Amino acid sequence: MVPKLGSCYYPEHWPEEQWKKDAEEMIASGLSWVRIGEFAWSRMEPEEDNQNFKWLDRAISILGDAGLNVVMSTPTAAPPRWVVDKWPDMLIVDSNGQSRKFGSRRHYCFSHEGYLQESLRITKILAERYGKNPYIKAWQLDNEYGCHETTLSYSVSAAKAFRSWLTNKYKSIDVLNESWANVFWSMEYNRFDQIDLPNQTVCEANPSHELDFRRFSSDQVIKFNRSQAEIMRAHTEALLIHNYMGQITDFDHYVVGDDLDIASWDSYPLGFLEDRSTQDEDFKLKFMRFGDPDFQAFHHDLYRTVGKGRWWVMEQQPGPVNWAPYNPEPAPGMVRLWSWEAIAHGAEVVSYFRWRQAPFAQEQMHAGLQRPDGSSAPGLAQASQVAKELKELKDIQQVQAKVAIVFDYESCWAWEVQPQGKDFSYFGLIYDYYKSFRSLGLSIDILSPYHKNLDDYKIVVMPGLMHIDKSLELAIESFKGVLIAGPRTGSKTLNMHVPKELPPIVPGIKGTVASVETLRPNASISIEEGGNFICWMENLVDCDNVIEQCDDGRPALIGNKNRQYLAGWPDQEALRRILSDSCSTQNISITSLPNNVRLRDTLKYRFWFNYSETESIVGGVKLPPSGVIWESI
Ligand code: GAL
Repeated sequence: MVPKLGSCYYPEHWPEEQWKKDAEEMIASGLSWVRIGEFAWSRMEPEEDNQNFKWLDRAISILGDAGLNVVMSTPTAAPPRWVVDKWPDMLIVDSNGQSRKFGSRRHYCFSHEGYLQESLRITKILAERYGKNPYIKAWQLDNEYGCHETTLSYSVSAAKAFRSWLTNKYKSIDVLNESWANVFWSMEYNRFDQIDLPNQTVCEANPSHELDFRRFSSDQVIKFNRSQAEIMRAHTEALLIHNYMGQITDFDHYVVGDDLDIASWDSYPLGFLEDRSTQDEDFKLKFMRFGDPDFQAFHHDLYRTVGKGRWWVMEQQPGPVNWAPYNPEPAPGMVRLWSWEAIAHGAEVVSYFRWRQAPFAQEQMHAGLQRPDGSSAPGLAQASQVAKELKELKDIQQVQAKVAIVFDYESCWAWEVQPQGKDFSYFGLIYDYYKSFRSLGLSIDILSPYHKNLDDYKIVVMPGLMHIDKSLELAIESFKGVLIAGPRTGSKTLNMHVPKELPPIVPGIKGTVASVETLRPNASISIEEGGNFICWMENLVDCDNVIEQCDDGRPALIGNKNRQYLAGWPDQEALRRILSDSCSTQNISITSLPNNVRLRDTLKYRFWFNYSETESIVGGVKLPPSGVIWESI
């Protein structure tokens, strides 16, 4: 498989005379894929019962004739004004009960039946018209589910759908009362139709209620996507794709991914660093033109799993974006570096957002590969360079990672519902493990919590996994490598209660969490062997064997060589030490890297990436500023 490049293009934004030239220039620049259509509903269907696809027919022909493979999209992330007028209550409602307005995008509520029908109607029209079009090689369904905080909706439709979801799940109100323990604070219900969404309560709502609402909301996304996918499958053989986002965890991507052929995601390294990262100000300053060296890689690994091995970058940042609090210019060479980081992780396609910068509307300050006047922006030469390099370096095959991290969306929701300490973040905990492994020069696989076989790995970590699924439990029982769990692993039942036999409920771990405490940001608990616990600490008792302990005498790491449980959230020093120890017992060779240098091994090549403006020399390898180099293994 030779990876390919592409770009996101909006024919409806440009005069028709320009389309051919654009297509030819894309080809001349080394791009071979083009994604279109995801926000063009108002041009496809200007009003009810009035469709106009002639322009789109011509656009697809022009792009395809020029030699481009087209990714056509369903336009349901941007329902036009007339659809909202027809269904005024289709708008998403926030947790304050405030309806969001028309005038940008993603304004629909996943639970609105009328909108669901509209979405299926337009999907069917497109599927019938273009399903067999030879130029269309893939379909993107909708755009970035959940972006702009749009998974959870507190609308009347959501409340109605939630009640029916609960009825279906619990069958009897007594079972629900029992499962949620509604005896607490006299929250018992007599009937399902009394149950509301868990917002605007005086103080916190019942966590079991909230967790079910999060599961329900995720299921609504799954249902929405599945219903479009079913229509498409009936009309096309082309690949079905969705473009997920960075650090959006409000729905279970693994389950959405089961209905698609390929996972893709939208990678904006500088936007994410400014907008989402919890790293400190010094880190953000240091990496402001490079991006967090691990953030993209984490998502590449995550979406490789979501896509069952097949994944793309659908939108790659090409220059400054417009939407983060600060929008710096990437350092020269970074667009190339980001592209190669994706390719080294197995991306089949890297597609840049967008071909040409729009001179109007919300994203007029967002760079493209071309400036608004059609001249080349700095990202274009870098994309072309990658295209040329890909001709020389064809054989980029993935290899089995030796270490893996279990990542679970439901645990994200559970700990958001009940963090117990302001700073506790499941994503943050997992990401710290990821960063630590990567700083040791390792390739990492991300596994879903439904994974059935761990035998391919030497080390598997599952911090914060609220509940261990039966199939994973069986896999752990027969796993011969090192399992590292904790903190918070196996600490809740599926109903979000403390398990009867006190946590951790983790196969092979003997010990009991007697109590937990959370720590303010400037507090920590030091570990005798080095490093500290931050944020979260458990007091473990009845442990078989204490491997490490804290300076205050509390157990820090318990278990044996193959089954270990950590009592708290380790800082990078502690984590690197503990993970390195396991690597050495498992004969995994590590390469200690400075925080600006990362590497990725494929079957034939080792790729080195320098996320900084100065030359770096690591292990005798000289890395130019913002440089990528590869050597044969
Ligand atoms: C993505 C989105 C694109 C565009 C881009 C700007 O999240 O899918 O449509 O808005 O961000 O960076």
